[in-house]
Amino acid sequence: MQDKSFLMIPGPTPVPESVLVELARHPIGHRSKEFSDIFMYCIEGLKWLGKTKDSDAFIYTASGTGAMEAAIANVLSPGDKVLSLVIGVFGKRFGQIAQTFGAQVEMLTVEMGKVIDLKVLEEKLSQDKNKEIKAVTVTHSETSTGAANDLENISKIVKKHGALLVVDAVTSLGCMNLEIDNWGLDIVVSGSQKGFMIPPGLSFIYVSPKAWEYYKKSKCPKFYWDFSKQKKSLDEQTTPFTPNVSFTSALKIAFEMMRKEGLENIIQRHARLKTRLRTGLKELGLKLLTEDKDASSAITAIYPPGGVSIPDIRSAYKKDWDITVANGQDVLKDKIFRIGHLGFVGDRDIEMTLAVTAKIFEKLSLRGF
Ligand SMILES: Cc1ncc(COP(=O)(O)O)c(C=O)c1O
Repeated sequence: MQDKSFLMIPGPTPVPESVLVELARHPIGHRSKEFSDIFMYCIEGLKWLGKTKDSDAFIYTASGTGAMEAAIANVLSPGDKVLSLVIGVFGKRFGQIAQTFGAQVEMLTVEMGKVIDLKVLEEKLSQDKNKEIKAVTVTHSETSTGAANDLENISKIVKKHGALLVVDAVTSLGCMNLEIDNWGLDIVVSGSQKGFMIPPGLSFIYVSPKAWEYYKKSKCPKFYWDFSKQKKSLDEQTTPFTPNVSFTSALKIAFEMMRKEGLENIIQRHARLKTRLRTGLKELGLKLLTEDKDASSAITAIYPPGGVSIPDIRSAYKKDWDITVANGQDVLKDKIFRIGHLGFVGDRDIEMTLAVTAKIFEKLSLRGF
């Protein structure tokens, strides 16, 4: 049967029917009052989701990496020292973007599946007596491993040092608790195809008053990404360039759903789904990459049972059940598979995935794997 495809990957994530229906409508003019109202509703939604009053929120027509590049281009200057906290593929990407813009990047890298050790970070920053490190980049939920950093305490340590904290919240925002004002996060980026329940194509960025101070001194080139252009237009309730009007309208519908569910309920739902999935997978005898205490609420990475190949596992989910699960990335390619459980995902989806997983491994082992 067609049209029953089901995404259990860490993005793009499943899209609710009301959002799909909205996406089917004719686009509207982006300089209209109607669009301004939709756009401002989304900006307010972003502030609500990130628990901030102090930071500006902007929307770019770009994938998450675009917002990561915007973050770097707007606050750094060539030669600036940056400490990138790397717990996987996306943490490394932030460091690489900063290198591309001429920053001197040091990567504090941990083994895949682990998180940043707070003591090690504290020690590292305390060695920087002359306060040469201008910014620290960090991934909240690392999609390549399913590990989640202790962002609140990382922020406390970085604040003590004084560097700017730049956060990749692409797979945590809308899934896990993140408090921009209370935790003092300076820049936060995210993307539409994750907890936001709409397709890939929009990215989001929050800019704190401290980040604006850095912006004033930044010498990296920028045009499309320039925060000032965004801010000037936002003050006029519009955008500097042609926005993706259809996706912005879809985002409004998604925010209406999120507001109805309530932020704390959304966070609790993701935590519950994570726990249920992890427990169920362990009961099936599967080994997980991350420890429970470090686990992201958005993604779970799983080792295959001995002798079973990741391509065989993925094709069994897809061919027999029309469920897509993800391979590992980089050095974890073909070593683990990943199940995404973020966004428009509920208890039934997790129970179904666990039941299917049991059937798949029964079948693969009966075949003599
Ligand atoms: C944690 C994280 N950071 C950054 C990105 C990059 O986002 P995009 O692929 O939308 O450019 C992703 C995408 O999966 C991600 O999961």
